[in-house]
Amino acid sequence: MFAVGRGNGPRERTEGTGAPLITVPVELKDHGYEVLIGRGARHALAAAIRARLPSVRRAMVVTQQPLIDAGWVQTLDPGVPFEVTVVAGGEGAKTFSSLEALVRGFARAELNRDDVVVAAGGGTVTDLAGFAAAIFHRGMPYVNVASTLLGQVDAAIGGKTGVNVPEGKNLVGAFWQPAAVLCDTELLDSLPPREWACGRGEMAKYAFLGSGTPDGSILELPLADQVAQCVRIKAAVVGADERDHGHRAVLNYGHTLAHALEALAFEEGAASVPDLRHGEAVAIGLVFAALLARRLGRIDDERVELHRHVVERFGLRAELPPGIDPQRLLALIARDKKAHHDLSFVLDGPRGVEVVHGVSEDDVLATLAQMGSTQP
Ligand code: GLY
Repeated sequence: MFAVGRGNGPRERTEGTGAPLITVPVELKDHGYEVLIGRGARHALAAAIRARLPSVRRAMVVTQQPLIDAGWVQTLDPGVPFEVTVVAGGEGAKTFSSLEALVRGFARAELNRDDVVVAAGGGTVTDLAGFAAAIFHRGMPYVNVASTLLGQVDAAIGGKTGVNVPEGKNLVGAFWQPAAVLCDTELLDSLPPREWACGRGEMAKYAFLGSGTPDGSILELPLADQVAQCVRIKAAVVGADERDHGHRAVLNYGHTLAHALEALAFEEGAASVPDLRHGEAVAIGLVFAALLARRLGRIDDERVELHRHVVERFGLRAELPPGIDPQRLLALIARDKKAHHDLSFVLDGPRGVEVVHGVSEDDVLATLAQMGSTQP
């Protein structure tokens, strides 16, 4: 981590957005906030900080080098003096050592609770910087400026912050809500294809959490409306169950197998690790969940096909990568924090998507076998 620049306060050219933004409220008991979505949303940063955090004196912008190289961090203006700090990108950077470097940097910059952290980047940055904000001085405000589709439809919203440990993803963290979230769709103009896939996997998930028949018709909307539609679904779920006491688990639809697949990459000494991004893993997880639900008699074949169809519409594949030991996956599934004390899955069914407890290992293994996972 190192400071790459400083700013000195408001600059008129970044005060307004110049374009209408979509506002989606996240309504919470104590600390609701707004998600602003659209081209140029990042230029609303100063206004959002002024409105939500009027006594803020300084900002620490936490970001990734590629966003500086692309020149867009230089267009960010928190409206108060600020420093810029760089963290490594990618899920592998969500570690305790990155967290320690970050909070030590906050300490050297003498940040306190009258200051604000601006987490500008993808899910790694918002998770890591949000967690740093949650624990530094026992909690200081932060604002997310989401730069990826995954961040804009999912990771930047909801207040779950944290880091990974070798034993699993996001095993250490805090609920700490941002004061505002800015989803600037202009930043998606240069998003690499695998990053689109990452976000599309979450969008495919939302297709099953929204109202009506799941399909890919959302993709026909303007991009800002696509993002807003997903954010509305997420905001409603988070508003109903901020602290994950039950209902919020539906946001993990497709994620139990996805996390197990991703956890393979974090296992020390893992021999062969599938090259899967989060959204790609979620797409596989959605079809796995549909097949498991079918096996348990919760849905019919047509509904399973619908899952395959939706995943395809979002441009994703549903096949399990070859050569993954089902017992290894089962062990990782059992260890996942969402599995609680028994094998629980978020599954589709007659009442829609809900948590199902007490799934047997045999059913999981049979479903994995159906997807081509066989004992080496
Ligand atoms: N930060 C992601 C969530 O709260 O779900």
